[in-house]
Amino acid sequence: MGVVLVIDDEPGIREMLSVVLRRAGHTVHVAGDAESGLAIAQREPVEVVLLDLRMAPSDGLSCLPRLRAVAPDAFVIVMTAYAEWDTAVRAMRGGAFSFIHKPFDNQVLKATVARALAARDRALAARGSGEKDHAIHLIGTSPAILAVQQLIEQVAPTDATVLITGESGTGKELVARALHYASLRADRPMVRVNSGALTPTLLEAELFGHVKGAFTGAIDDRPGLFAFADGGTLFLDEVGDLAPETQVKLLRVLENGEYLPVGGREMRTCDVRIIAATNRDLPAMIAAGTFREDLYYRLAVITVHLPPLRERREDIPLLAGHLLARHAVKLRRGITGFTAAALEALTRYDWPGNVRELDNRIQRGVALTASGDIDAAALFDDQASGRRPAQKGAGDPLQALRSGQAIDFERAVADYERALLGAALAHSGDNLTQAAKLLNLSFRQIRYKVHQHGLR
Ligand SMILES: Nc1ncnc2c1ncn2[C@@H]1O[C@H](COP(=O)(O)OP(=O)(O)OP(=O)(O)O)[C@@H](O)[C@H]1O
Ligand SMILES: [Mg+2]
Repeated sequence: MGVVLVIDDEPGIREMLSVVLRRAGHTVHVAGDAESGLAIAQREPVEVVLLDLRMAPSDGLSCLPRLRAVAPDAFVIVMTAYAEWDTAVRAMRGGAFSFIHKPFDNQVLKATVARALAARDRALAARGSGEKDHAIHLIGTSPAILAVQQLIEQVAPTDATVLITGESGTGKELVARALHYASLRADRPMVRVNSGALTPTLLEAELFGHVKGAFTGAIDDRPGLFAFADGGTLFLDEVGDLAPETQVKLLRVLENGEYLPVGGREMRTCDVRIIAATNRDLPAMIAAGTFREDLYYRLAVITVHLPPLRERREDIPLLAGHLLARHAVKLRRGITGFTAAALEALTRYDWPGNVRELDNRIQRGVALTASGDIDAAALFDDQASGRRPAQKGAGDPLQALRSGQAIDFERAVADYERALLGAALAHSGDNLTQAAKLLNLSFRQIRYKVHQHGLR
């Protein structure tokens, strides 16, 4: 049990908090304003601080850096009103560990404090043992990547929910792993869930587990991924694909750490940090009514956006060199680097499949090069698929039409479709799911089209 300091200007809240927390076994100090709170933090061995963010006259947010200075080992939980997402977010960026919304449920309060205490113990233990650093670093020196790296370091040790956005192949999963391994949960599991891969019912059973007899085939109680990831991180990939009914259930876990196994009657609790990723435009989905706004705000406490590779071309040579070294070593090739023409082609190309496509092309280049430098041809010789067919000169139906020649409409459209599919498949290394994403098609649609065009 821990030493908790409550800083809140409302006497009623102070009273309530100290009763609940004392009953849970903690030692509680209370302060009615920032100054006396700071004095206590300096004097007492405070482990966790519950800080109200809206206090007069000096507000909690400005008190946070001073609190961090006088009691650097104390973990701070900020308290905000429900609508104040931005202040909660600013506080997390300023080093707060977690936040709770007023009015809160006692259960949530106790769980949050217990979690902060446990995290603090882990942090101190890790520091003491000089634990090996298994941090993951993003490759790149563009301002965008440096900012992402810095944000990762800032928010990793907190329990803040993080939403990672970016086109397919920009490194969202890599960022999620970097966050987990830089967090205090690094020695606990990180579990990845593809939110769109299963039907809603199966996904819920997967996430929350099920009880015996919940559905045909449920011959036993089975814990879900939330239980499995307990103490660790759950990575909800493609979160924009969540069905509305699953969105509601996820919201409840995010709000109070509670969930109901499929077919179960008793709520279970968990201590799981959520990191979500999507390549969809969630605000647009909210506007269209397909994604819940309240869930969005819960997920997007911290947002990390990864710009497409074509918007940070300065990273290409560095990434290319890094990926080349990796593949060359794997294939035991005596490859020295890229020809000037290859490097120039790499930096000029548009990279619709982003870093994943760069990785695929370099792997291909390495495989096609015996020794020496990789040439542009080894990287880009599937060019028919790399360029937009409509821009090609001869045989282009658009050109033909413009010069008054007749064409076959259906066939031209089909050709274009096939070229698009071919390009997407080439960029995704023949992976249908990835290719579907590049084209903004559903899995079902692309499977149908690929079949229709006899592409596989
Ligand atoms: N900055 C980076 N440094 C090093 N490797 C990177 C970087 N960004 C991406 N990668 C590599 O590129 C590949 C694709 O990254 P990742 O799987 O994280 O992308 P993603 O955004 O999750 O893609 P998708 O939306 O298609 O799932 C991985 O092999 C990853 O390691
Ligand atoms: Mg991914």
